[in-house]
Amino acid sequence: MAKNFDVVVIGAGPGGYIAAIRAAQLGLSVACVDAWSDQDGKAAPGGTCTNVGCIPSKALLQSSEHYEQAEKHFEDHGIKVKGLELKLDTLLGRKDKVVKENNQGILFLFKKNKVTFFHGTASFQAKVDAGWSIRVDGKEAEDLIAKHVVVATGSSARELPGVPFDEELILSNDGALRLKDVPKKLGVIGAGVIGLELGSVWRRLGAEVTIFEGAPEFLAAADRDVAKEAFSALTKQGLDIQLGVKVDEVETSGKKVKVEYKDASDKEHKAEFDRLIVSIGRVPNTAGLGAETVGLKLDERGFIEVDDDCLTNLPNVWAVGDVVRGPMLAHKAEDEGVAVAERIAGQQPHVNFDTIPWVIYTSPEMAWVGKTEQELKKEGRDYRAGKFPFMANGRARALGNTTGFVKILADAKTDEVLGVHIVGPTASELIAEAVVIMEFRGAAEDIARICHAHPTLSEAMKEAALAVDKRALNF
Ligand code: FAD
Ligand code: NAI
Repeated sequence: MAKNFDVVVIGAGPGGYIAAIRAAQLGLSVACVDAWSDQDGKAAPGGTCTNVGCIPSKALLQSSEHYEQAEKHFEDHGIKVKGLELKLDTLLGRKDKVVKENNQGILFLFKKNKVTFFHGTASFQAKVDAGWSIRVDGKEAEDLIAKHVVVATGSSARELPGVPFDEELILSNDGALRLKDVPKKLGVIGAGVIGLELGSVWRRLGAEVTIFEGAPEFLAAADRDVAKEAFSALTKQGLDIQLGVKVDEVETSGKKVKVEYKDASDKEHKAEFDRLIVSIGRVPNTAGLGAETVGLKLDERGFIEVDDDCLTNLPNVWAVGDVVRGPMLAHKAEDEGVAVAERIAGQQPHVNFDTIPWVIYTSPEMAWVGKTEQELKKEGRDYRAGKFPFMANGRARALGNTTGFVKILADAKTDEVLGVHIVGPTASELIAEAVVIMEFRGAAEDIARICHAHPTLSEAMKEAALAVDKRALNF
């Protein structure tokens, strides 16, 4: 007998599990189906983000940062470490524990909010009178009938053509988060977010890391000042980032990976690595969903086509997160999930794409929201820029971490904040103030007049706002 629900959510990543909880909070009967299994075959809700993305990568970034601090920087504080040793299995075990806690947390939240969870793969079967018939292939097959369906099936790592992931030598984000030893030489293709974050992890733990980037510019989407500062800091740390590279051939031979490539001046090279991470973007997960069975429309790149409200071409079928257009970020997926649940319940929510923050968790961290300076120039917009270096911030000096700056871009006439770009310590946390100001369409002067605690890194935000009006106090 089919089970009936107001809402069936397919996928329990940040888009799906949050949509399910919000819909249940609004009094709807909700099921959430997720296919992810842990090593023991048990359900592991949380999607890419929890299992092989945001959470494990940040756990490894934290551990590797501690290791590098102990190895290279504790002495500056008068702390001498003797016999420092890396226990990779403990480090990875801690990461797995953090992941498991998050999986368990989501199962607890489902219970608390009365969301019925199914572990298995969901596919569309047909349109029926009461809504949509969905088959769940799990331990046992189940049939569900949903008035509304929210597709939140996420994305997977893109392969280099002809170079499939084996997760031993050729690694996606999955394999790159569970290497059993630190490779002596690690190659990375793609100097995007994953390449920089995971490249940093393994470099800190002792690998010699070379990153091949196809684009001639480093982090083309970032403000040029941020990209320049980060490039200089990351290469100084030892990441060898080569831009404008064309990878011609990747071949595994025994326990090595051989890469043939042309550099920016078209000169041919050969390199050999112990492991190769391929991080060249991600592709939407729609295979096996039965999209073609019910006529769910995909765009030419395989994303599910949606309107501004995340509604697909089918009635009462919605889609959110990485499987639809827009940035592939967990917080974007979550906000879309909440908005869809509220729309189903008859509310009129809105997701503001102009104020979605970006963060790259390298050291220094990078974070930004809104327009870059190059975008404003291209638009011919009249703007003023204020910049404040962490070098002039007392807390940053006390921390011993003075790389980077806060830069604020404001409309020349109205002073409305149009973009904020940070590179430096805790940029990931500092950016929240900028998002709030922009969401309220506040001015640089508003930030400048808000009392910021001393000594904090957040004072750099206030000083950058003062600098927009050429009246920074400490620089
Ligand atoms: P996903 O998290 O991919 O979840 C989709 C779920 O649906 C999966 O569990 C999948 O198994 C399931 N599924 C798929 N098909 C079916 C089916 N037919 N039936 C049942 N279940 C199905 N973003 C950030 O904002 N911050 C970060 O720090 C960050 N770090 C990242 C680090 C890495 C290494 C990676 C790879 C990504 C990172 N991201 C980060 C991106 C983030 O993980 C994604 O944007 C986010 O997970 C998208 O959420 P989602 O719900 O759309 O999809
Ligand atoms: P990405 O889009 O960030 O970067 C891919 C890079 O690879 C680009 O710089 C691109 O120019 C380059 N590239 C593409 N094809 C290439 C080729 N053949 N040879 C050499 N270079 C090539 O993608 P990435 O790093 O795989 O991450 C995927 C997504 O996951 C990100 O866009 C982001 O949305 C999300 N993510 C977010 C994180 C965060 O918020 N901190 C962390 C990690 C991932």
